[in-house]
Order: sequence, then structure tokens, then C-alpha cells
Amino acid sequence: MKWLGLILLLFNYISAEPTPIVLWHGMGDTCCLAYSLGLFKSFLEKQIPGVYVLSLRIGNSTVEDLENGYFMYPNKQVEYVCGELAQDQKLKNGFNAIGFSQGSQFLRAVVQRCGHKLGPIKNLITLGGQHQGVYGLPHCFALQHESCDYVRKLLNYAAYYSWVQKSLVQATYWHDPLDEITYRNNSEFLADINNERKINQTYIDNLNKLEHFVMVKFDGDSIVQPRETEWFGFYAPGQAKKLLTLQQSAIYKQDRLGLKKMDEAGKLVFLSQPGDHLRFTEEWFIESIIKPYLI
Ligand SMILES: *[C@@H]1O[C@H](CO)[C@@H](O)[C@H](O)[C@H]1NC(C)=O
Ligand SMILES: *[C@@H]1O[C@H](CO)[C@@H](O)[C@H](O)[C@H]1NC(C)=O
Ligand SMILES: *[C@@H]1O[C@H](CO)[C@@H](O)[C@H](O)[C@H]1NC(C)=O
Repeated sequence: MKWLGLILLLFNYISAEPTPIVLWHGMGDTCCLAYSLGLFKSFLEKQIPGVYVLSLRIGNSTVEDLENGYFMYPNKQVEYVCGELAQDQKLKNGFNAIGFSQGSQFLRAVVQRCGHKLGPIKNLITLGGQHQGVYGLPHCFALQHESCDYVRKLLNYAAYYSWVQKSLVQATYWHDPLDEITYRNNSEFLADINNERKINQTYIDNLNKLEHFVMVKFDGDSIVQPRETEWFGFYAPGQAKKLLTLQQSAIYKQDRLGLKKMDEAGKLVFLSQPGDHLRFTEEWFIESIIKPYLI
């Protein structure tokens, strides 16, 4: 009988497929071009032989994908991605998810809003995400011309007007600490997924099903302000200097999103890198992300 066990073991080894990975790119980036997330996809495929990597394209072409990063309402993007993931047979036994920059909070929204309709999502890894939003645009993100100033002004004065929320993606995670009430009342994406408007138990349950929620912060980040948002921290309400960590925030203390429970269960992982936004080496990624969470 011994050899039977051995054959079964061998069979198991051969048929064990690596857990698929879903990627969501950041603003000003696209799913698939060779010099953008396409390169990262190839890197993962090389590191984890046989892995299925889906790099999300929001829209029907690369150009649409790029534009939608700025202009497609996140609630719509999330709904679209929920549909795409549900249809993908290769993901039905579960997957890991990696978000880049704004793709971080969008993927978290996917976990919370439709996780119960998908195969089990094992680990959510967010790189430079804006979980508590942003306030101030030092480099104006990736916008490099006059529209940069326009966007900054628009966000300062009008981020919460319904039409701005619906026509500029970055307005939907604008978080003015000087006016938390207006933020809560009018932020139709971020305040909703952070359970700041009301408490949606489905969000809590789905997020808690993760094995790990890994947040990577870039200590030299010149794009995201404040950097603490990458670890789910933010300015203390009423001013824009003093920072609160996640553990000091109301979301955590009131356990509005189940993060306290997850933290106590050891499911929250806080990692940092010294460089600018999304700067990390392949070696670091292999040791700190691939080995512990993806294989
Ligand atoms: C892709 O094209 C189809 C058919 O033209 C359209 O219905 C759909 O909305 C498009 N998808 C996106 C995300 O733009
Ligand atoms: C809570 O979230 C689920 C999943 O997105 C949604 O179907 C439901 O309508 C939400 N409930 C409330 C009260 O908003
Ligand atoms: C926020 O919404 C509440 C309830 O709808 C309303 O009473 C309050 O005036 C609103 N405040 C602001 C600043 O929009």
C-alpha cells in the first residue's frame, strides 16, 4: 500500500496549481503594456511557474483603460470588475489580489462588495493605496501639465459636488480633514467602503474572510499625501498636521469595518519601503510578498 500513497502524493504535487493572482493598476497606468503592468505580470509568471495572472483592463482597449483610471466612476469600475471576476472560470477556486496605488482601494471595494459572490480571496495586497483618501496633491499624481493645477483647484473647492464625484475619479477619495461631515455626507465611494456613512455588515464579513490584508507604505512617497493613508491612517479630524494611525482612528476604535478584529487575529500586515511611490526591488517583492503570501 505504501506505493499507492506515494503515487497519490506525487499526483497531488503535480496537479497543485498555484493560486491565481488578480492585479489592478494605478492611475495613469494600464493593465497590459510591456513597460507598465504587463512587465510586472511577466515577472510574476516567471517567479511562480504556471500561475494565472489577470491584470484588469477597465474598458475595451488600452486607451479606454488609461482614461477610465481618471474618469470612470469608481462605483461603476468596481461593479464592472465584480462582473469580470465572477465570469472568469480560472478564478472560481480562489485567488490573491494585488492593487497598485488607487487600484488598492478599488480592489478592497471589490472584496467588500462582491467577495461573497466570488471564489475565496485569500490575500489582499495593497501597494501605496489610499485607504483613507488623500488631502493635498504634491505632485498632482501623474498629471503633468496645466490640467494639474485645474484638478487641484477643482478638488479643493468642489470635490464633493455630485458632478465632480461622478466625473473625476480622484475626487472620490478626496478627504478633507477640516470638514469631516461634508466628506462623510458626500464621498460616495470612499466614505461608503470605509463604513463611515452607515455600517454595511457584508463589507465587514467579506473583508474578514481574507487570510491577510497586507498594506505596503512608501516612506519616501512624494505623490500620496498623507503617506499614512497607505497604512489606513490619516490626519486627526479638524486639522491637517497631526496624524493618526489606523489603531488610533475612529474607524478602528468603533470597529466600523471589522479591522480591529482582523488586527487582533493577526490578519493585518504593515510593511514599508524607503523609496518613492511604488518603488521596490524585485528581491524585496520576492522575499516579502511572493514567498509569504503568493506561493
Ligand atoms: C465595451 O464595449 C461594449 C460594447 O460596445 C459596451 O457595452 C461596454 O460598456 C464597454 N465596456 C466598457 C467597460 O467600457
Ligand atoms: C451592503 O453591501 C452589499 C454588497 O455590496 C449590498 O448588496 C447591500 O445593498 C448593501 N447594504 C446596504 C444597507 O447598503
Ligand atoms: C449631512 O447630512 C445630514 C443628514 O442628511 C444633514 O443633516 C447635514 O446638514 C449634512 N451636513 C452637511 C455639512 O452637508
